[in-house]
Amino acid sequence: MKPDLVVVGSGFFGLTIAERCAEELGLEVLVLERRSHLGGNAYSEKDPETGIEVHKYGAHLFHTSNEKVWEYVNRFTSFTDYKHRVFGKYQGQVYSLPMNLGLINQFFGRSHTPDEARALIKEQASEIATEDASNLEEKAISLIGRPLYEAFIKGYTAKQWQTDPTELSPDIITRLPVRYTFENRWFNDTHEGLPVDGYTAWLERMADHPRITVQLETDFFDVAEEFKGKVPIVYTGPVDEYFNNSEGRLSWRTVDLEESVVDVDDFQGTGVINYNDQDVPYTRIIEFKHFHPEREKTHLPGKTVIVHEYSRFAQEGDEPYYPINTAEDRAKLLKYRELAKAEPMVLFGGRLGTYKYLDMHMAIGSALSMFNNVLTPHFTEGAELT
Ligand code: FDA
Repeated sequence: MKPDLVVVGSGFFGLTIAERCAEELGLEVLVLERRSHLGGNAYSEKDPETGIEVHKYGAHLFHTSNEKVWEYVNRFTSFTDYKHRVFGKYQGQVYSLPMNLGLINQFFGRSHTPDEARALIKEQASEIATEDASNLEEKAISLIGRPLYEAFIKGYTAKQWQTDPTELSPDIITRLPVRYTFENRWFNDTHEGLPVDGYTAWLERMADHPRITVQLETDFFDVAEEFKGKVPIVYTGPVDEYFNNSEGRLSWRTVDLEESVVDVDDFQGTGVINYNDQDVPYTRIIEFKHFHPEREKTHLPGKTVIVHEYSRFAQEGDEPYYPINTAEDRAKLLKYRELAKAEPMVLFGGRLGTYKYLDMHMAIGSALSMFNNVLTPHFTEGAELT
């Protein structure tokens, strides 16, 4: 049967579009996914040996302050009360991140009141004026001072970008938040938690609709001629790839994830530890069992699953994870946006289709906007698809 709508990609953006269009507009939706599973980068699966849920494309923590998104996602899953916290190792000590009063006291070896800490960092940051910063290092020093920069930003950033921070653009950072309290929750959002039955159960429930067909292991470009110009398409793959890289490739960073099962009950005592020393090659270690302490009884005792993360520039064939967004990328993106606008019956969305880092709640929120503002008027009133 000919679908009313084709969605390319089964990540949160694509599935939100598919679910809304099937449920609210009664459309037959065909979702094409080139991987062997649905869910895009939020996909997770249980490690068969230990029973621990592993996020296959990097740690995914759900958080949002958008009430519409929160109401929507709760139709498919409930959430645990997990609150994310991150620690950072530097020269043999473990600090609580983001930079806060606890970290400042530990790092400088004495207690400070909030005002004392503020004055200290202000004094250290006065070395360079922010508007004079010509590279990332100078910008960071102008924001938080040299000592904190050298411990918590320099090595980590150099590893993330595989580039010395003096060679990186100051535009990469706009602010480096320092909290002058002991608050060490990573996210500030109103709602936070992890899906009780895991990400894949949540994603499968979104796709579980009689009018939605998900076709896995199907690359859109192999079947494009069947649909292009004949049926509306929401495309969530890479925008440059859609146009055959005609304006040049957009640049991305990727992350190599080295997963292993370790023979201890608890490897590091928490979900995420950043490694700030430059001579440690990985940026973070994730230990997944800590994301779900409520599942303790279902995990095999004496074992744990950890992942070492290594960051680098993506080459052809690598998973694109974080847009690099250089001036050249931005110039190319403008040209792709023009091409995308002129492409008949195709809408571009999601993190790959718009070349933007989107958290899950942002991907879902922007899909809900596309549904409300573009797809509903098109299918109910015949408005143009732009
Ligand atoms: P997504 O990439 O998920 O889906 C796109 C889908 O399209 C993929 O399944 C792909 O295979 C498919 N596709 C592409 N081209 C195709 C083609 N030609 N034919 C068929 N299928 C095609 N967010 C958050 O809120 N909290 C977090 O902690 C994290 N953590 C995190 C860690 C890392 C390492 C990354 C890279 C990202 C995060 N995120 C996150 C962000 C989160 O992954 C993101 O919000 C969602 O993946 C966005 O969903 P999309 O549907 O836009 O893309």
